[in-house]
Amino acid sequence: MSRAVRAAVAALVVSLSAHVAAANSLRDVAAARGFFVGAAVDSTALAKESKYRTTLGREFNVCVGENAFKFENIHPAPGMYAFGPADSIVTFAETKGMRVRGHTLVWYQQLPAWVRNGSFTRDEAIALLREHITTVVSHFRGKIWAWDVVNEAVADDGSGLRTTSFWYQKIGADYVDLAFQIAHEVDPDAKLYYNDYGAEGDGAKSDAVFELVRGLQQRGVPIDGVGWQMHVRSGFRITDAHRANADRIAALGLRLTVTELDVRVVLPATAEKLAVQAESYRDIIAFCAAHPAFDAVLTWGFTDKHSWIPRFFKGEGAALPFDAKYKRKPAYKAMKTELARALNRRP
Ligand code: G3I
Repeated sequence: MSRAVRAAVAALVVSLSAHVAAANSLRDVAAARGFFVGAAVDSTALAKESKYRTTLGREFNVCVGENAFKFENIHPAPGMYAFGPADSIVTFAETKGMRVRGHTLVWYQQLPAWVRNGSFTRDEAIALLREHITTVVSHFRGKIWAWDVVNEAVADDGSGLRTTSFWYQKIGADYVDLAFQIAHEVDPDAKLYYNDYGAEGDGAKSDAVFELVRGLQQRGVPIDGVGWQMHVRSGFRITDAHRANADRIAALGLRLTVTELDVRVVLPATAEKLAVQAESYRDIIAFCAAHPAFDAVLTWGFTDKHSWIPRFFKGEGAALPFDAKYKRKPAYKAMKTELARALNRRP
């Protein structure tokens, strides 16, 4: 074989294997069926690590900023907006043909001190809410598929809205309605979601979230969907309660997205534990990819190198589908296999 032929064959092998790898990515499996699979993005890792960028762009067709869009980061001082890190995520997504979810416009956490400690009348707090949502949503108008407009507004005991929230205390219960109305006025094409945790199955909190979104709809407030965060422990399984809850939300005409999936294990993460974890991933994907109300599933990060879990849950971690060296874990394989299988079962 001449040198030129050898080179041509080598080039063909490289391009064929690249094609096979691409065809086997999570995003290719999802996109073939009009579904979205995504991950939360750490804007610092995105800027610094090429492996991070390669994996993110190869595997996912939707992403969300893990922290970059939050109030304290994007609006750090009165009248001052810092869009750089969030813009970098949107630009990356555009170059890779990915959609973007915006997280989050209104939350009681990650508010800067000037907001938390400021003294605001109700009217001033409404003006702040309006200015913040208007500025942020118009900056990204046309670039954000879906906004988590309001995050974690419901109390954990399911008694109703979280009364300790800055927004509840300054404005009252109607801050939720206002937030959705303002976001819709500014970008009528963006899908607007209510996002929460611990409200996926049955129980008082799930009922309270359901009542909240049903109330929004009854009052004519523009809401398109509900985000199920799904920060769960290894061994987790979808039950009839999850199915019933998804069905009643879908019956309202609302969409669903798994917005922040991770499955934490007790460290050290042995092969046995990662196999158990993979079955939880499989079960969740099997459910949401087959359910017609779900548009997307996003994990909260994608590599164990960058995950909030070890910082917040002592002794737990390894919660994501790639390990800290960007190697595919059993969870990744379970996700991919199950995505293909479940999407084929979609009506
Ligand atoms: O950016 C600072 C850095 O300058 C400083 O040196 C460092 C020291 O601790 O802190 C850094 O900020 C941290 C930030 O994450 C970025 O890493 C904050 O302390 C830390 O509180 C913050 O945690 C985030 C958390 O929300 C805040 O409650 C997590 O990364 C983020 O994953 C987590 O995400 C939330 C969703 O928004 C809503 N649902 C639950 C989910 C998990 O808590």
